[in-house]
Amino acid sequence: MSDAIGLGITHYPLLAGADTHMANLLKATLTDPDIPEELKDPSTWSEQAQSEWGDDQGTAAAAGHRTQLLSGLAKCRAELDAFNPDVVVVWGDDQYENFREEVIPSFCVLAYEDTDIDPFAVLGLMKIPNAWGLPDNQSFTMRGAPTYAKGLVSDVLGDGIDCAYSYRKREESHFPHAFANTQIFLDFDHVGTQFAYPMVPIAVNCYGEHVIARKGGLARFAEINQGESLDPPGPSPKRCFEFGRAVGRSVREGDKRVALVASSSWSHAFLYDKGWHLRPDTESDQALYDAMLRGDYDAWEAVTAREVVEAGQHEMLNWFCLLGAVQELGLELDWSDFVTTEVFNSNKTFAIFK
Ligand SMILES: [Fe+2]
Repeated sequence: MSDAIGLGITHYPLLAGADTHMANLLKATLTDPDIPEELKDPSTWSEQAQSEWGDDQGTAAAAGHRTQLLSGLAKCRAELDAFNPDVVVVWGDDQYENFREEVIPSFCVLAYEDTDIDPFAVLGLMKIPNAWGLPDNQSFTMRGAPTYAKGLVSDVLGDGIDCAYSYRKREESHFPHAFANTQIFLDFDHVGTQFAYPMVPIAVNCYGEHVIARKGGLARFAEINQGESLDPPGPSPKRCFEFGRAVGRSVREGDKRVALVASSSWSHAFLYDKGWHLRPDTESDQALYDAMLRGDYDAWEAVTAREVVEAGQHEMLNWFCLLGAVQELGLELDWSDFVTTEVFNSNKTFAIFK
């Protein structure tokens, strides 16, 4: 008989890096000459930001942030092990990794065989040492579930929702870090090497108008202000909800024990243009977190695509997919934690639905 559990986690790349580098995104933002100087002066920042920044640019506070994140991840891993799934379905964003100028699918199920993954590829691009002090060429295997993945795509298509699929990753780029980090972070002590559950990644075009325009990363205000050549939008929050519901129906009608995972942090400072990329939009995150606690999915479905982009909440589309599935399956929020930060780029939420 089928059964399901829902989990929400982060794939924050700098958690895999050393504490000395955890605030690197903010440090890069502070070198943007088009951000007003007074806003970049820490003495004008909020109490939380000043406390986290300290006198060492966030290094001491990084240890505390790491402790909070690892605690949420351990809790989710324990639930995952207790549930003992046949397959783990993960919604994650593709940040100009697998999908580039050739094609940008709104949703794409990665129906891959077992795949060797280089966990430190993204850190390498940023020239950041890994948190474990391991050699850069360390690798692990992500177990695939191509037969299940193909069935899932068939069900969703049969349900009236168009969904792309892929049998092979792009050769010349690293495996999308949203999925790689999901495995590493849920198996942090072993850097992903002792995680035996087969995974079905579902790439969501969270970056939408910025996916090629900003290559899924950060832009300077000089480029933004002179008018970016924006891409078409990603799928709307409402469509993500509907997609999640269709995945939920597929799970219910199948015979597998399925863990459904949303992999992403919430508002990202580097995408929150109105906040000058200096902090995430915590007010918008708090509103959605409170709605999630109340089980108020109408509030989530009422969020517009424009609001998501303006709040720098692009990656939350993964969570809209998860909550659609959770609602469809009648799962209830069992535990959650909302970790805010002003200097480590993004707020992070952890959730368990049973
Ligand atoms: Fe991401």
